[in-house]
Amino acid sequence: MIKKEITELLKLRDVDQGQLFKDADFVREKYVGREVYLRALIEYSNICRKDCYYCGIRSSNKCQSIRYTLNEEEVLEVAVVAQKQKINSLVIQSGERCSNEFVDDIERLLKVIAQKFNNQFRVTLSCGEQSKDVYKRWYDAGGVRYLLRFETSNQSLYKKIHPSDSKHDFRTRLQCLNDLKELGFQVGSGFMMGLPTQNYDDIASDLLFLKELDVDMVGMGPYLPHNKTPLFASEEWDLNEKINVSLNAIATLRIMMKDINIAATTALRAAAIDGRSKGIRAGANVVMPNFTPKKYREEYYLYENKPLVYTDEQMTLMEEECVSGQYILKYGEWGDSKHSKHSKQNRIFL
Ligand code: 5AD
Repeated sequence: MIKKEITELLKLRDVDQGQLFKDADFVREKYVGREVYLRALIEYSNICRKDCYYCGIRSSNKCQSIRYTLNEEEVLEVAVVAQKQKINSLVIQSGERCSNEFVDDIERLLKVIAQKFNNQFRVTLSCGEQSKDVYKRWYDAGGVRYLLRFETSNQSLYKKIHPSDSKHDFRTRLQCLNDLKELGFQVGSGFMMGLPTQNYDDIASDLLFLKELDVDMVGMGPYLPHNKTPLFASEEWDLNEKINVSLNAIATLRIMMKDINIAATTALRAAAIDGRSKGIRAGANVVMPNFTPKKYREEYYLYENKPLVYTDEQMTLMEEECVSGQYILKYGEWGDSKHSKHSKQNRIFL
């Protein structure tokens, strides 16, 4: 698909949008089936060295007075809960940190999880930009999937939503994605939709960028303003528009990259009560229920209205959402992206 065609698909509404979802569903059935894979999300730490203008846990947000890090025992408790619920895939997400202590802790955690649970879990890391050596250590310790969104592929927009310093450089993000691919990770990436000044063409370019990266997994969703962040004041998009474009982006990407894993993101759920089930119907095949221990959940507040519901309620809801749409919530499996079996090890250049 060329950019212009993608842009047109992103704009579809009503009956035409319904047809797009049907087309995506057809592709989904053929290439990845009707299963929806589960990942237990652990928000490991809200301490972050970055200062992204859109994110609630940015380092300058002094209103975020509580900064926490889970200890090993707490993470293992979460794993036990996940195991009981037959969820065999964990995502360890964290604010970006690069101290030796942090790197060691993640490495040790991965080893302990593998050992204590007999390699039962597939673990995905989402811990930001790191050196290739660090990625290698984590890979060797068992974290073979990695999520790192590029946020937007429009570099001038990237500059607008991040401080202009060496810590927030689009080229570093790309370097990291290349490193992860070279090391053999199953790589996930994605972006936000509805950012100030972002337009449909930008989003079409983001989808093409995912294709060029040849990612195995995607998490993309609406940008939701957080009132303690600098970007809050520049809100431009209508919420419904963000939701619709996010759903159309899922459907379009399913058609473009048939066998990858696409998540129905928490941001989509935060934007609309039925956001997750709509995401699944549009072509998403992964859900990531939040398993962060309750006492920390409010502290990992990336954007407003982030759902803080408890694990049991969440799971019942997800079951209902899947059953009503005739999708199968898949327990007891890793749910590797089918694409990862033959994704290319190509590098991306700017
Ligand atoms: N709205 C939506 N998504 C956000 N993220 C961070 N802040 C926001 C926000 N305000 C997303 C980013 C990041 C991921 C962990 O959460 O895309 O990569």
